[in-house]
Amino acid sequence: MDLACFVLWVFFFPIAAVVSFNFLRHKKRCNRNHKKLPPGEMGLPWIGETMEFFNAQKRNQLFEEFVQPRIRKHGKIFKTRIMGSPTVVVNGAEANRFFLSNEFKLVKSSWPSSSVELMGRESIMEKEGERHRVLRGVIGTSLGYAGLEVLVPKMCNSVQLHLASNWHGQERLSLYWSAKVLTFSIVFECLLGINVEPGMLDTFERVLEGVFSPAVMFPGSKFWRAKKARKEIEKMLVNVVREKRKKMEENLERGEDGMLLSRLIAGMIQGEISEQEVIDNVVLLVFAAHDTSSFAIAMTFKMLAQHSDCYNKLLQEHVDIMSSKRWGENLTLEDIKKMKYTWQVARESMRLFPPIFGSFRKAIAYIDYEGFSIPKGWKVLWTAYGTHYNEEYFKDPMSFNPNRFEDSVPPYAFVPFGGGPRVCAGYQLAKLNILIFVHYVVTQYDWSLLHPDEPITMDPLPFPSLGMPIRVFPKHS
Ligand code: HEM
Ligand SMILES: *[C@@H]1O[C@H](CO)[C@@H](O)[C@H](O)[C@H]1NC(C)=O
Repeated sequence: MDLACFVLWVFFFPIAAVVSFNFLRHKKRCNRNHKKLPPGEMGLPWIGETMEFFNAQKRNQLFEEFVQPRIRKHGKIFKTRIMGSPTVVVNGAEANRFFLSNEFKLVKSSWPSSSVELMGRESIMEKEGERHRVLRGVIGTSLGYAGLEVLVPKMCNSVQLHLASNWHGQERLSLYWSAKVLTFSIVFECLLGINVEPGMLDTFERVLEGVFSPAVMFPGSKFWRAKKARKEIEKMLVNVVREKRKKMEENLERGEDGMLLSRLIAGMIQGEISEQEVIDNVVLLVFAAHDTSSFAIAMTFKMLAQHSDCYNKLLQEHVDIMSSKRWGENLTLEDIKKMKYTWQVARESMRLFPPIFGSFRKAIAYIDYEGFSIPKGWKVLWTAYGTHYNEEYFKDPMSFNPNRFEDSVPPYAFVPFGGGPRVCAGYQLAKLNILIFVHYVVTQYDWSLLHPDEPITMDPLPFPSLGMPIRVFPKHS
């Protein structure tokens, strides 16, 4: 054996052996998964199909331009890559049930880092298991049946005050903005029990603008402004919380007003909840309630404007309720229960225009679903569109037909509020907000859309691009 050959053997054989062994092993592993990974295209490294996803989202065509063509090509379960993460998009009631009800077991919710930093690590969206249960319990009691009986008159009062100061004497106004101002004051004053001070809504809006923007900290960036606004809010909330705690500890206030803030602080005094948890969850509740409720209200009004038969039927429901009341008298929970058709209209509006199109989960275990494997660490995106726009669940899905909600809907087919352990904690409040607002508006005002064809934009939550300006005329009754 000559030297050259010896050198080759000694140095290159082991390298070649290791390389080819790894290559084979890698190939084998890929094969094992490839056979079972869902179909779909992963696109370029890191980038994947991010641009397609965001472009479709911006035009509010996420279903039509991104999801639907891929369902046609690959089926209801397909893989893609969005912002560096391999992601499986799942559609259908069965998939919604599987992924939403297996929260904490197979998947956990997965938010962009900017959302986590702005909402705070102690907010309910970052909690799991026991801590999640404790915080949901506190929020749940305020929104349980007993809580609602107290909430209804308070909300009636807030809505009437809002109309008196924002609608009265106006000829035109932005319905979307009006819904935002109202929702903000309802969450603070009716649910939490904190007075809204001038400027607070603007500061919160600045935080919300950063929630889905890239987490880059250069001066002037959306995220930088949002962080600054979050600091201001934190300072304000810390003062409110400490003052209230002091009063409750000195027994000046018993904390028996049933307000959510009192319940959270009672938990703090008993050592069950930390101050940071209280603050982060107040910020989170505002975030969770704000754009979602306002959009649901705006779309309900848009549908009413476009379907005069539905509007007349809805109006009759409220005229009937009003006929048994004195002028200015608050509604009761019993009155709310009579708003059956109104709630059908609102649900049908949320079916066609879900305020939240779906959300991301992360696989915390290897998942075997419908014959496909989803590797641990991959993301899963469930979508509301996948059922809301499917004729399997909703006949003639693109038409507006509130009567369809007279029949029961299959479980996990109508999911604007999600499902499973993380189902919307504010569902009841959102429902009351919509119904009570509709009641006072339709009984006190005539109104019409200034731009019937106003497009809807997403950033990344949907909103009417011009703020839904309307013309208003007080009813003289
Ligand atoms: C029409 C209005 C609303 C819609 C469409 C809506 C929708 C949703 C959805 C889809 C989820 C689940 C997200 C996921 O699974 O990743 C959710 C969670 C949540 N929502 Fe709502 N929401 C609305 C209003 C509200 C309001 C008014 C509040 C509070 C006052 C609220 C508080 C929450 C909270 C705290 C969670 C997180 C629950 C948890 O992680 O356990 N939401 N909402
Ligand atoms: C309606 O309820 C609010 C809040 O509970 C209360 O302050 C107000 O006096 C009530 N209005 C009427 C007319 O009873």
